[in-house]
Amino acid sequence: MVKVTVCGAAGGIGQPLSLLLKQSDLITHLSLYDIVNTPGVAADLSHINTKSKVTGHVGAAQLEEAIKDSAVVVIPAGVPRKPGMSRDDLFKINAGIVRDLAVAAAKFAPKAFMCIISNPVNSTVPIVTEVFKQFGVYDPKRIFGVTTLDIVRASTFVSEVTGAEASTLRVPVVGGHSGVTILPLLSQVAGTDKLTKEQLEKVTNRIQFGGDEVVKAKDGAGSATLSMAFAGARFALNVLEASVKGTSNIVECTYVHLDADKEGAKDTKTIIGDNVEYFSVPVELGAAGVQKILPIGQISTYEKELFAAAVPELTGNISKGSAFITEGA
Ligand code: NAD
Ligand code: LMR
Repeated sequence: MVKVTVCGAAGGIGQPLSLLLKQSDLITHLSLYDIVNTPGVAADLSHINTKSKVTGHVGAAQLEEAIKDSAVVVIPAGVPRKPGMSRDDLFKINAGIVRDLAVAAAKFAPKAFMCIISNPVNSTVPIVTEVFKQFGVYDPKRIFGVTTLDIVRASTFVSEVTGAEASTLRVPVVGGHSGVTILPLLSQVAGTDKLTKEQLEKVTNRIQFGGDEVVKAKDGAGSATLSMAFAGARFALNVLEASVKGTSNIVECTYVHLDADKEGAKDTKTIIGDNVEYFSVPVELGAAGVQKILPIGQISTYEKELFAAAVPELTGNISKGSAFITEGA
């Protein structure tokens, strides 16, 4: 029995993400939770003739049954950006939403792999950590900030300038998930040595601010939903592939607490220092979640400058998320 709960399942991301998860044979029970509309979304998806049973749960009174005993909890709940807003502007509303969902997970599915999509990811992941600590069920190997969309975007944007096939291109993107904290490691990608400095800077900036491109194009109607659903499904299914099926060598860049593999994180810490607790790093997934944090590897002088610019913003975002739970701030 493999139950996956999507919290925020009736939303712009939640619906297509649930559709993609419904296609997987790894899931036996797809549980859809939202504060509105999940009975309809669940009825619709339940007619698809794939393996999983689909249930819909609406409102806080049904959160326990929605989340109970889930192997994976994916959280795309909360408000998206409008033009002119930063992801941090969403903190006021989304921090409380993520906290309440984390409390339910800590009580009713403490062993779940938590996949956090709600923004600002740099801060919402520390919120989940601190809630799990308060309930005595914290395991850093099981809590992930989903940054897969940055990797997906990076592959697309780099392929447009190098001519490589986007679907096979793997561009490592580390750091956090907002503007200058998003750190594409283009120097590690074959073919980028032929790009001019201007081209490199332009594509780096496009990856860092790819979310804004969609927010602007949607013109007040939200942010990335379909590409995020694609990325979120890829990440959640890879977590299941590694943990349930035992497939080895599955690597995703994901935003984790670096305690998830202290030994493996040493390489990253030599670059970012000891004070940064969370970072998106290449992670080998396994039965317990984070199996290994892999080295970030060689980075260029330009990338070192990007790292230096990212750290102050990231540490501020992390403190803000942690303090929301530890100090009620
Ligand atoms: P949306 O408004 O379309 O959907 C959000 C859903 O969350 C709605 O159905 C809403 O009813 C639900 N919701 C609100 N409060 C809830 C609660 N307490 N419990 C359960 N559900 C609740 O928004 P969206 O476009 O789907 O975006 C959702 C979040 O994902 C936003 O914070 C957005 O910034 C973020 N996002 C993150 C990434 C990423 O790369 N990590 C990418 C895109 C969007
Ligand atoms: C994204 O990167 O598309 C998301 O984080 C949504 C946003 O606000 O840009």
